[in-house]
Amino acid sequence: MSNSSLQPVTTSDLRTTGEVGWISPSNIALIKYWGKKSVQKPMNASISFTLAEATTKTSLSFKPRKNGERWIDFYFEEQKQARFEERIVQYFSSLSEEMPFLGDYSYVIKSSNTFPHSAGIASSASAMSALALCLCDIENVISEEIRQEGDFLKRASFIARLGSGSAARSLFPSMSVWGKSEHVAYSSDEYAIAYSNIHESFLSFHDDVLIVSDEKKSVSSSAGHQLMNGNPFAPVRYAQAKKNMGLLLSSLQSGDLDLFGKIVEEEALTLHALMMCSDPGYILMKPNTLSILEKIRSFRQNTSLPVFFTLDAGPNVHVLYPDSERDKIETFIKSELLSLSQSNQIIKDHVGSGPEKFI
Ligand code: PMV
Repeated sequence: MSNSSLQPVTTSDLRTTGEVGWISPSNIALIKYWGKKSVQKPMNASISFTLAEATTKTSLSFKPRKNGERWIDFYFEEQKQARFEERIVQYFSSLSEEMPFLGDYSYVIKSSNTFPHSAGIASSASAMSALALCLCDIENVISEEIRQEGDFLKRASFIARLGSGSAARSLFPSMSVWGKSEHVAYSSDEYAIAYSNIHESFLSFHDDVLIVSDEKKSVSSSAGHQLMNGNPFAPVRYAQAKKNMGLLLSSLQSGDLDLFGKIVEEEALTLHALMMCSDPGYILMKPNTLSILEKIRSFRQNTSLPVFFTLDAGPNVHVLYPDSERDKIETFIKSELLSLSQSNQIIKDHVGSGPEKFI
């Protein structure tokens, strides 16, 4: 794939109208992206599982914009949503150099999630990747040259990254790497790539998300990334992330679940430790988050079953386990963990095959 695939295209026919639509999944990072430089570039490479059930479905209709006409109308779950609309206007404006045609059209965007909007689940990865896919599809419709699949996904990942860093990783089946890594050929800070050199047991991994709290976070992810700039542990963290990437990749290739779990849990705890030792420090975990982590570790010690946790920038716990141990681990989650989540909320997910075009 050439780097020219990232360049803006020449557009031909400004009379075109049309509609495009994509369903795109969320993803869960195993090596975390925390800290950024210049325009949404990561301070370290990250790797994630692409999820299957937590998805955003977005349709976008476009027509040439007349003078004085509204630029963007946004509906979330059939309701007009001013706050999201504002964010999309900002995003489209920020893309004016990348996609110069954007200002020539007006848009109606309709979006919905498969997971409850208020569940405290990060929805920016699925939402921004679905939107980026729609934009790249329009670019294909109105441009003189159609991008082929590989270049199209690379471009969509690049455009998604500019909206939300982690969204860059939602575009590929099973696993994705974003950020230049010495361990992964063709990896880049500009966009994510598919990662497929993995043992088959990871292809059907489960990720059950226990919703410990659905309150709005006290510190947003973008503020958290910013705080890494003054964090005295930042250089050590970036060195650790590099080392952990090498170790995790070798566990993914060999199927070494013990090593996989050790690195994944270390990454989750490090992410939250970095928040606690920022200036000002803050805590996003809740008491029940810790109780769940302790219960997972003691269950694992007692049974030797491969069940592990990871955390996003929030209090909810992602419980990771291979499909081969599904029955025993589901029973454990139901009997020991579920009551620690808010109103018994759980989102059952698993590794998925990536986005799907529906219009
Ligand atoms: O994509 P952002 O800016 O919302 O940052 C996401 C950061 C984490 O979810 C905490 C880690 C990651 O790599 O997804």
